[in-house]
Amino acid sequence: MNMIAMPLVLPCGAEIPNRLCKAAMTEGLANPAGQPTAALNQLYGLWSDGGAGLLLSGNVQIDGDHLERPGNVIVADEPSDAMQAALETWAAAGTRRGNHFWAQISHAGRQCQKIVNPHPKAPSAVKLGLPGGQFGEPDPMTEEDIEQVIAGFARCAKVLVSAGFTGVQLHAAHGYLLSQFLSPRSNQREDQWGGSLENRARLLLSCVRRVRAAVGPAVPVAVKLNSADFQRGGFDFNESLQVSKWLEEASVDLIEISGGTYEQPRLLNLEGMEPVEEQSVAASTRAREAYFVDFAEAIRKEINIPLMVTGGLRRLDAMNAALETGCADMIGIGRPMCVMTDAPAQLLNGVSELPRFEDTLSLLPRALQFLNSIKLVRTVGAFATQYWFYEQIAALGHRGTTQVDMGVMSATKAQTKAANLWLAQRQALMDAGLGEPV
Ligand SMILES: Cc1cc2nc3c(=O)[nH]c(=O)nc-3n(C[C@H](O)[C@H](O)[C@H](O)COP(=O)(O)O)c2cc1C
Repeated sequence: MNMIAMPLVLPCGAEIPNRLCKAAMTEGLANPAGQPTAALNQLYGLWSDGGAGLLLSGNVQIDGDHLERPGNVIVADEPSDAMQAALETWAAAGTRRGNHFWAQISHAGRQCQKIVNPHPKAPSAVKLGLPGGQFGEPDPMTEEDIEQVIAGFARCAKVLVSAGFTGVQLHAAHGYLLSQFLSPRSNQREDQWGGSLENRARLLLSCVRRVRAAVGPAVPVAVKLNSADFQRGGFDFNESLQVSKWLEEASVDLIEISGGTYEQPRLLNLEGMEPVEEQSVAASTRAREAYFVDFAEAIRKEINIPLMVTGGLRRLDAMNAALETGCADMIGIGRPMCVMTDAPAQLLNGVSELPRFEDTLSLLPRALQFLNSIKLVRTVGAFATQYWFYEQIAALGHRGTTQVDMGVMSATKAQTKAANLWLAQRQALMDAGLGEPV
């Protein structure tokens, strides 16, 4: 049976027309005021036409000083008329085929690059342990800062839903602010926001409750959560299981299971500079195809709300098997969608496998690929391949077509230039007093 074609009814009552989701992928296509643009509308129109039951936006930021990346959409205030209109047009483009389109809302915390903010706010003054000096020295948040984050998530969700987004997802994975609070490595606080798991999860749960109150009982509220950070002393699988139970009690409609951080990028099945901290979950060979499916299976035994697994899923039979065995209720697809915007429609029509672009991309020319045996080179190269995917997304937005022949090095240069230009233009807006609120 083609399980991917079955609709899914969420606890809030909303129905998703099939089990395929375009996973959240940062676009970097907002204008320097943080507003959605024609490029975002074109991109999401293509993805809506592509057959997924659910589209997730890339990171939409609740705070313009804590971007995940230059070019993020920013909803840090009540919208101006221009912002409201831009959000409505974007939401309409992303729902034009009757699918769901949820906004992923986030705050980058210490994973905000130094060129955006040299002193980002974070749970504690613990700097990212990455070579290259791209990230600044974080300042610990005060109680007031934390209250602003909770209010910021709620306001952002409300604005987006009133603009036509059919749901929201709080980003509590991949080492961004909510994930930083969950991890004992980045959260060394001794107040009610740190220490015990209950305290470390307090910010996420407070945000979920305020978002639910802001959008009402009938709108999907989802959370992207790490199955683990895969770092020694980090947020581990047993903690993730407990947090999932609390999220179920807090009326979350769906949990998307991912894993890793910038320091340990397991979300893309990549290795960081430190060894991977293995978790106490029975490992199966399926995990080679679907990185987090074993974790989903173990979480499924303990909670009843829908689960989505994202990461590595390319084969139709593996997707159907994950759904049939009940490990997952939705399948997230990321990188293939950067090139094949109609990948869901193709799977629904029976195509057996999606392309794995990540397996062939390399920053180094063939003659130098032996250097990939050096861990630092491999890590830098792995991050650079992300720029290739960014370039495909940008090309789809601007021109409606991809540029798969572009090399990883050219993509890195093009993306770096675009990010610097965006930041300079944003600074000029701020200097002219025309920045947020927009
Ligand atoms: C270009 C790119 C941008 C991404 N941006 C985000 C993001 O904004 N939010 C998020 O939660 N995950 C993001 N991810 C991670 C994906 O949602 C997904 O978890 C990951 O790509 C694994 O799925 P895949 O193997 O199907 O690509 C991004 C991944 C890629 C490749």
